[in-house]
Amino acid sequence: MKVLFIGDIVGKPGRNALKQGALKLIDKLKIDFVVANAENAAGGFGITKTVGEELFSMGVINVLTSGNHIWDKKEAITYIEEENRLLRPANYPEEVPGRGSIVVTTPGGGKIAVLNISGRVYMNQLDCPFKTAKREIPRLKEHTNAIIVDFHAEATSEKSAFGWFLDGEVSAVIGTHTHVQTADETILPKGTAFITDAGMTGPVNSVIGVNKDLVIKRFLTNIPIRFETAKGASVLSGVVFEIDPQSGKADNIQRLQIKFS
Ligand SMILES: [Fe+2]
Ligand SMILES: [Fe+2]
Repeated sequence: MKVLFIGDIVGKPGRNALKQGALKLIDKLKIDFVVANAENAAGGFGITKTVGEELFSMGVINVLTSGNHIWDKKEAITYIEEENRLLRPANYPEEVPGRGSIVVTTPGGGKIAVLNISGRVYMNQLDCPFKTAKREIPRLKEHTNAIIVDFHAEATSEKSAFGWFLDGEVSAVIGTHTHVQTADETILPKGTAFITDAGMTGPVNSVIGVNKDLVIKRFLTNIPIRFETAKGASVLSGVVFEIDPQSGKADNIQRLQIKFS
C-alpha cells in the first residue's frame, strides 16, 4: 500500500499546488492512500467547511489531519463534528469536539488508521503525547496494523524521541507544524517510516507561508501585525512510503517537493 503524506497546506497557494500536482503525482506514483495536514488551509489559519469540502472534492485526499491552528476559524468546532475524515490532535481533553483518529477501509478492502497527536514542547500543554499514543494505538490495532501518525510538534528532539518511542508500533510517524521539510527521512530499525517534518504545501516566497514583509516588520517593531498568507509561486511538500498491510511495517520512504509557478 503506497501512501502520500502531504505537509501543512497553507491557504490558496497550498490548495492550488495540490490541484496542480496531487492528481498527477498519485497517477505517476500509483498512490493508494493520501493524508494531508490542513491546519492552515483556510487563509493560513485553520479550516472552514468550504475549504474542507474543496480539499475533499479534489477526490485525492482520504484523511485530513491538523494541529494547534485547528480552532482558528470558529466554524471548525461544528465542521469537525460532522466530518469524521478531519482529525484534531488526540491529546486534547476528552470533551473537545472532533476526534484524533480514524480507521478507513481502502477501495482494495484493506484498513488503514490515521492518528493525529500534538507535541508539547513550545506548544499548547495538552495531555502527554507519549501516553496518548500508548492508549490509542492498541485500540486502532484491533482494526489494522497499518497506522500512520501525524505528530504535530515544534521541537526536533520531541519529534525524534516520539519516532523512536513508536518504532515497530506503527507504520509511520510523520512530523508536521514547522513548515520546513527536514532531510532525515528514514525507516527506523523496527520498520516505522519517520521524518521530522514533511514540510509545507504553500507559498514559496514567504516566512513559513506568511507574507515575508509583515513578518520582518513584526520582528523589527514588536508591534502586533495581522499576518496574511503570501502570494505567488507555491510548493507541494510531503513524503511517499509503502506499508505492508499485514505486518504494518513500512519501506522505501522518499521526500518530495514540487514547485509550481
Ligand atoms: Fe502548520
Ligand atoms: Fe501547527
